[in-house]
Amino acid sequence: MAHHKPLSFEASTPMRILVGISGGIAAYKSITLVRRLRDAGSEVRVVLTESALQFVTPLSLQAVSGQPVRSSLFDAEAEAGMDHIALARWADLVVIAPASADVLARMAQGMANDLLTTLILATRAPVAVVPAMNQQMWAHPAVQANLETLKARGVRVIGPASGAQACGDVGEGRMVEPEAIAAQLLAPKSSVDWQGKCVVITAGGTREPIDPVRFIANRSSGKMGFALAAAAQTAGAEVTLVCGPNTLPTPFGVTRINVETALDMQSAVKGIAHMDVFIGAAAVADYRVAEPATHKIKKSADADTLTITLVKNPDVIAGVAQRNPKPIVVGFAAETEQLIEQATKKRITKGMDVICANRVGAGLVFDQPDNELIVLWAGGEQHFPPTEKTTLAKQLIELINKIIH
Ligand code: C5P
Repeated sequence: MAHHKPLSFEASTPMRILVGISGGIAAYKSITLVRRLRDAGSEVRVVLTESALQFVTPLSLQAVSGQPVRSSLFDAEAEAGMDHIALARWADLVVIAPASADVLARMAQGMANDLLTTLILATRAPVAVVPAMNQQMWAHPAVQANLETLKARGVRVIGPASGAQACGDVGEGRMVEPEAIAAQLLAPKSSVDWQGKCVVITAGGTREPIDPVRFIANRSSGKMGFALAAAAQTAGAEVTLVCGPNTLPTPFGVTRINVETALDMQSAVKGIAHMDVFIGAAAVADYRVAEPATHKIKKSADADTLTITLVKNPDVIAGVAQRNPKPIVVGFAAETEQLIEQATKKRITKGMDVICANRVGAGLVFDQPDNELIVLWAGGEQHFPPTEKTTLAKQLIELINKIIH
């Protein structure tokens, strides 16, 4: 029986990935791999072998992973934080890239003579290896036998690729490129097939300038829209994310258009010729300053009040709902009272097919990782209890898919 869980990456995006790096010139590419995995929404922790330290620095990997990097089993301070058993349990997936001939041999033998190999024995998470070595070494029967042993235990082998090698040889043994590794690890895992569909999502809050240094903004973080973009991309769609200013990483494979104001958002959306599904998750400012000052507004010595005139912004989502052909239009309604009534009214007046209603108020929803939604459409409603926005986004894409079929 396999020691590790079966290698099914279909169920959901692995969220906690332990990247093991062993000694090889390809280790520099692992920095990009960590970035790509994080772009896809995963949390990453990195463990280096002793020889990997000769090729990449813990500092670079700490910077890209945003987490402390470990290489020694006998690091009292690190063990006091998350000990090696806790780290092995933490992982949803372990990937070793590059996997040297040496680490493959140690794994095949079940050795635990450093932190990485110890973790591999201590984890129940699926393990993938991405071999990288000289073509002659790769072809050696000892390496191939070790690989067979590992495969038989359920370890997934990615690559190697063929081509020019750092040593000057040409042949099999190059490490698969980071983008391809990330794509294989995170590949189709949605029950929804939106291949060929164009999905446009607005996210985040807009900024409406008052003068060159001030603006009107809101508490929207953009997290829900970004999670939806990731979920739609995972379902195979071509996703364009039109978003207000924020610092969230662009989800893997998503085209991002940065905008600032509601008017910018409207023209960016208008500029997209075709869309099958539109999801308006942005908190678009309802009003903008009628005439933003060209120079910084000075504090007045003789007036205690300042009046700024606001004018109504165009409604982005209502504009999309008037398109011909009309895409499936999904909107959000953040309400502090009469949630269902207000949301239903909004859905109908704005011409939306589906509306996701959520209660907002002190400490609720905005800028929080969790959310709770009541989804309403002409034929029914569904309540999603509080959960992480990433999980909710997947459930919502599945529901939209059901509603439109
Ligand atoms: O009217 P309210 O702002 O509550 O409506 C929320 C929904 O309408 C959201 O889906 C939001 O993205 C969209 N909206 C819009 N353009 C506006 C205001 C809201 O697309 N100017």
